[in-house]
Amino acid sequence: MPIHKSVELNTGAEMPVIGLGTWKSPPGAVEKAVEVALKAGYHHIDTAAAYRNEREVGHGIKASGVPREEIFLTTKLDNPDQRNPEAALEASLKALDTPYLDLWLMHWPAPMTTDGKADKGHNWLDTWKAMEKLFQAHPDKLRAIGVSNVSKKFLEELLAIAEVVPAVNQIELHPSCNQQELVEFCVSKGISVTAYSPLGSDASPLLSNPVVEKLAQRHGVSPANILVSLQANRPGVTVLPKSVTPERIINNLKLVDLTDEEIQELFEIEKTAHFRACHPAWTGWGSIGFPDCE
Ligand code: A2P
Repeated sequence: MPIHKSVELNTGAEMPVIGLGTWKSPPGAVEKAVEVALKAGYHHIDTAAAYRNEREVGHGIKASGVPREEIFLTTKLDNPDQRNPEAALEASLKALDTPYLDLWLMHWPAPMTTDGKADKGHNWLDTWKAMEKLFQAHPDKLRAIGVSNVSKKFLEELLAIAEVVPAVNQIELHPSCNQQELVEFCVSKGISVTAYSPLGSDASPLLSNPVVEKLAQRHGVSPANILVSLQANRPGVTVLPKSVTPERIINNLKLVDLTDEEIQELFEIEKTAHFRACHPAWTGWGSIGFPDCE
């Protein structure tokens, strides 16, 4: 399966296949990381209100000198803001110091209170309706809307009431969490998929997995390149390697074509070594429809 350079969203916009992930990138380091990435050739940056680094991401964009229109910028509606999406959108635009977002995602289908509990009095589907209204009313501020951490079961509920089909579902994807059925379901509905934690997040065992190392040697690249490439070889999928280390940020741009057999070999890893870097239970909403989280 050859790699792709970008994915066409259901809005017609092109989303670059590799974006810089910034989950767990501290405000002090993320500005430099964004600047380095954009100067090195990234055209896609992913952040979230919940990461508490939007302001520094905005500074990094400015410091890079890369024009805003050459960058695909994503941020996300935080769970405690689901009752006030309009105010949250304005706050994100202000923090990022940008007139518009290329993509605005509902971070989790899990409304929460500001003290970190499930907000059981609010339905996430109502949040989607409010996001649709904002999208329709403000095309100057929102180029596309989508979701994150949404299972097939929950997506079916969403699609039953949606007027706007989400452009993207951003989910955890790596060889210990392939979610192939969900990826295929999304793509069949015109929803592109973005892979977060493609390396398996911090201290990942995947970087020293024997299959990953073997393929890295075969292709003359690093294990991280194999893990990022795996997602870039899946049709309809974009991928967000996170790093605050300049050499790694630059190295992670290198993609290789993987054969179907190599992809299968990587998918097999999950059979004996399944894990999630981010289990949805932290939201107080249980498995939110993910079969492996029940
Ligand atoms: P750091 O940010 O300190 O460079 P994921 O993208 O799956 O969330 O993984 C992020 C983790 O992987 C971070 O701990 C990051 O460290 C590390 N990382 C990113 N790129 C590489 C790389 N090329 N080689 C090794 N580790 C990496």
